[in-house]
Amino acid sequence: MTETVDALRARHLADLAAAATPEAVEAVRVEALGRAGTVTALLRSLGGLDAEERRRVAPRVQALREELAAAIEAKTSALAAAALAARLAAERVDMSLPVVPEPQGSIHPIARVMDELAEIFADLGFAVAEGPEIEDDWHNFTALNIPPEHPARAMHDTFYLEGEPSGRVLRTHTSPVQIRTMTGGRPPIRIIAPGRVYRSDSDATHTPMFHQVEGLVIDRDIHLGHLKWTLETFLKAFFGVQEVVLRLRPSFFPFTEPSVEVDVGCSWEGGRLGIGGSASWLEILGAGMVHPKVLANCGLDPAEWQGFAFGCGIDRLAMLKYGMTDLRAFFDADLRWLRHHGFRALDVPTLSGGMAP
Ligand code: PHE
Repeated sequence: MTETVDALRARHLADLAAAATPEAVEAVRVEALGRAGTVTALLRSLGGLDAEERRRVAPRVQALREELAAAIEAKTSALAAAALAARLAAERVDMSLPVVPEPQGSIHPIARVMDELAEIFADLGFAVAEGPEIEDDWHNFTALNIPPEHPARAMHDTFYLEGEPSGRVLRTHTSPVQIRTMTGGRPPIRIIAPGRVYRSDSDATHTPMFHQVEGLVIDRDIHLGHLKWTLETFLKAFFGVQEVVLRLRPSFFPFTEPSVEVDVGCSWEGGRLGIGGSASWLEILGAGMVHPKVLANCGLDPAEWQGFAFGCGIDRLAMLKYGMTDLRAFFDADLRWLRHHGFRALDVPTLSGGMAP
């Protein structure tokens, strides 16, 4: 019996030492201390011994049972602690890291202003329209009432594409998008068309590529008052001011009649531009009522439909609003300039958030 106790002790403790999982530990427990376990059987067998023998052996069997129970419990908690430590190491998170990595790069001021334009005009019910930068002669000129040999063509410093018998050009303005919109759908129409345009011209205030935004409204009973209100509403939101004063000067574009040049009242106190008042004037865009011939060229009856259009330089708007002085810097791709004048990638302009600089 003594031998049995020592042998069981050695076997179960060795098995326990070798057990690497909670399941293996449980197997040792069942084998030794379970209802049909070896130690349980030994305890039961004590009843069959004579009194003398029982007094000698019983304490040793009891001690074995307690020793094994304690060793099993110790092993169980050791395994649980090791499992927890492994999980903590595997699922380690550095709580001091930023949630979102700092975005790289920034939004170019021109892209920013285009987003602002889309936001402001969307609120007035305008959709954003697009057209190709390589245009055909008809959309860029003829349909806009600038026939071949018309002197207005000379005003545009056009880039003509070589070897193009059909006369394709880099669009000289965004006005061909007017034509594409009117031939591609039915009124009522309310669109803006921001994008790149090209003219063979280069100095501090002119680059061969620059940006315009076209506006077009076609509906019944549209008049110059609608144009003026729309421009006032746009400029107030864009520059973040309560009031603006507009000056409409008579002008000429072949595709509008009447045509106007629009100035916005401003001041230059302390060398800083302030929009509002009428101390000084900034010329900001060309506009007018869509010429009846242009409507007819697009298959619209001028007796039924009228509209206004405007075309505005985006680069100049950005310079005025965000205080840059040299247009060429926009296109130099100088990282220091971009970091200074760029906008945070996740900072999207909204009317409710305000658009003032
Ligand atoms: N397309 C004209 C320009 O580039 C601007 C303009 C657009 C004028 C629409 C009137 C109406 O100068």
